[in-house]
Amino acid sequence: MTVPTNLNIHLINSNRIGSILSIMDYEEKYSKYQVHFLGDKPGFIDCIDVDLNHKKVVDLGCGGGINSYYIKEKYPHSQVVPIDISHIRCLKCRENAHTMPIKADILEIPLRDASVDFVVCTMVIEHVPEDNVLVEEISRVLKNGGTLVVTSVIKGKYAWYFRKNKDGIPALDPTHAREYGSVDEFKKLFIDYRNHQVVTRKIAFSPFRFLYRAAYRLGIVSSVDSKAFLTNGFLNNLLKYKINIPGYQEIEICCKKD
Ligand SMILES: C[S@@+](CC[C@H](N)C(=O)[O-])C[C@H]1O[C@@H](n2cnc3c(N)ncnc32)[C@H](O)[C@@H]1O
Repeated sequence: MTVPTNLNIHLINSNRIGSILSIMDYEEKYSKYQVHFLGDKPGFIDCIDVDLNHKKVVDLGCGGGINSYYIKEKYPHSQVVPIDISHIRCLKCRENAHTMPIKADILEIPLRDASVDFVVCTMVIEHVPEDNVLVEEISRVLKNGGTLVVTSVIKGKYAWYFRKNKDGIPALDPTHAREYGSVDEFKKLFIDYRNHQVVTRKIAFSPFRFLYRAAYRLGIVSSVDSKAFLTNGFLNNLLKYKINIPGYQEIEICCKKD
């Protein structure tokens, strides 16, 4: 992989530097083999009631760029700023969503107070060591009247998945710092917001994405096309076969800042 010189890298000026470096290292190693594919359209895209054209949108923890890609597709005149701590993810996002990401820690978002109209942060809050700090940062950068969409995972009492986190606890993703135990626990983070809209959805596992990733890890395929499940009709049809993960749900909260 070639490393472009024009990726925006935010230099961290923080007393959290030790913890940030260890998160970076962990997420970077993980990014190498846990490839993010573009595929299903994120649920929020057709549900939000704001026109994002000519608005500033921030995609926090953008990963492979799925949110940025679909936002740009629906709102071509939006100004989308993806941010991720992982260099590999930033490169992929740039390739997939044709936007220039910023490499930075979202616990110190490198944007001015009240400068953003829409914040999206999907499947990231469970990765950060301090979820309350992330919510404060979102509130800081969001303008009054701005909208936020945050998603995460709820782990029910009888939830099971085959992966484990670094403490050996079964987890949907080994880089999760936590998984919320209930809808209320997650909603409490957003207590300062009114007009919550909360949606929960089942989380399903795609065996074909899993096999594709495994083939990449084993060197059977030498490179991964992140858009393969979006653009290849055959793979796209295979993606429809999914297995529900027992006890796990995705939770999405959408609120406006007063
Ligand atoms: C599960 S992925 C979600 C990606 C994308 N939002 C999506 O929904 O597909 C989590 C992403 O959060 C990023 N991340 C984790 N901790 C972060 C932090 N402190 N600052 C910025 N990005 C972070 C990871 O590098 C990874 O790309």
